[in-house]
Amino acid sequence: MISTWSFPNRIIFGCGAIEHLPAAVSGLGARRALVVTDPGVVTCGLLARITDLLGKSGVACAVFDGVKGNPTEASVYPGVEAYRSEHSDSVIALGGGSSLDAAKAIRLKVTHDLPLEEYDDLKNGGDRISADLPPMIAIPTTAGTGSEVGRSTVITLKATGRKTVIFSPHLIPSVAIADPELTFDLPPHLTAATGMDAMTHNLEAYLSIGFHPMCDAIAIKGVEIVARSLPIAIHDGRNAEARTDMMAAAIMGAVAFQKGLGTVHSLAHPLSTVAGMHHGLTNAILLPHVMRFNLPFSRARLADLAAALGADTRGMTADNAAVAAIDAIEKLNNEIGVPKRLRDAGVREQMIPVMVPLAMADGCRLCNPRPTSAEDMEMLYRAAF
Ligand SMILES: [Fe+2]
Repeated sequence: MISTWSFPNRIIFGCGAIEHLPAAVSGLGARRALVVTDPGVVTCGLLARITDLLGKSGVACAVFDGVKGNPTEASVYPGVEAYRSEHSDSVIALGGGSSLDAAKAIRLKVTHDLPLEEYDDLKNGGDRISADLPPMIAIPTTAGTGSEVGRSTVITLKATGRKTVIFSPHLIPSVAIADPELTFDLPPHLTAATGMDAMTHNLEAYLSIGFHPMCDAIAIKGVEIVARSLPIAIHDGRNAEARTDMMAAAIMGAVAFQKGLGTVHSLAHPLSTVAGMHHGLTNAILLPHVMRFNLPFSRARLADLAAALGADTRGMTADNAAVAAIDAIEKLNNEIGVPKRLRDAGVREQMIPVMVPLAMADGCRLCNPRPTSAEDMEMLYRAAF
């Protein structure tokens, strides 16, 4: 069943939702779309399905398929060129978080002249972003980042030397089309890694500082859904119910983290730029270590999470329940095949001193319940190493 949600953007959700793409494009008044995607989406035939759908409805489309994982400027500027040379009037992002984030940056750059680093959130660059952006439709093919409903894009920039967050309410896609069927063929290791990104968004948002009961409610439900459905989606990729749950939980995570994220994400971002790791996998490995670090500052909230993660916390003290939440995440990681340590995922010890200052420069840590110093960052990298 297809339903339309209006929080925070228009989300056309459900198995088969992709058939609503032509109507969504026309509804935005667009006639010439630039599809932004990556080579994997082309190979699996999904791009052809989208261009077919658009062609039948009279929407002209050009394609930029040069997006790479952990996108840099090289995934953005050629797309801006393509948009201009094809006289496009709208952007359709098709793929995982990298394609969605690259598309957001392309959309920004076609109407905003400053170099991307000038829009860095750490410099309040979002204040320089106006509403003058072409319409954008986001079609995720993974259930993880939730970038389809998010207000930010993360691009690794030469000028900053790190994953740079660009944040503005204007960056939110005009429409998201969330069709769980597009994730049916995602292999188990990518389902696990992207799914644990969704878990981390919900969990870190729930623990992050600040008063936001609406986000808290969404976040704790998101944790519950991922804990229940991620193992099923991994072991039975065509299970529509589990894939639908995961797509919803990814959206919930990205809605919830408008409250804030935390130290897991600050530690994770350098692991992608320095060690080339998949973002979701880094989060999965780091998450129990940061939960343990946060315990003295988040006892009650970790205890809430234990119940959401499926632990029987009846009769437990808050301390014991908090530990049960950490145990539940370790058990989940184990069940879905996440490596135990960073060194099992290609990280070398000499990278740690390089990553510590990058983690400190990352704004996500500012919302972590326990203030995190450079010494803490190093201790956490070593604990997970
Ligand atoms: Fe993330």
